Amino acid sequence: MSGITRDPNPHLGFGGGGPHHCLGKSLAVLEIDLIFDAIADAMPGLRLAGDPRRLRSAWVNGVNELRVEA
Ligand code: HEM
Repeated sequence: MSGITRDPNPHLGFGGGGPHHCLGKSLAVLEIDLIFDAIADAMPGLRLAGDPRRLRSAWVNGVNELRVEA
């Protein structure tokens, strides 16, 4: 399964669980949850308005632009 709601979600965004695993993970996850909750509350009809424009990189996977409409 893919997408942001996937479960399980074994991403490596905060490290792989080794000795230097991100100490701020819980704070960062809380802040990100609050940000997306606030966006969803403010714009309940938010939906995709096109395909993402992806970052062109062989090093980092990312999205440069993701157009939405409310
Ligand atoms: C979206 C936000 C964040 C991301 C994506 C992120 C990501 C990471 C990653 C990938 C590492 C290295 C993990 C490893 O080598 O195994 C790391 C380490 C670390 N992060 Fe974060 N981080 C975030 C937010 C924060 C915040 C908010 C704090 C503190 C308030 C924080 C504190 C640290 C510290 C202290 C380390 C070093 C731990 C060590 O070397 O033992 N991070 N983070």
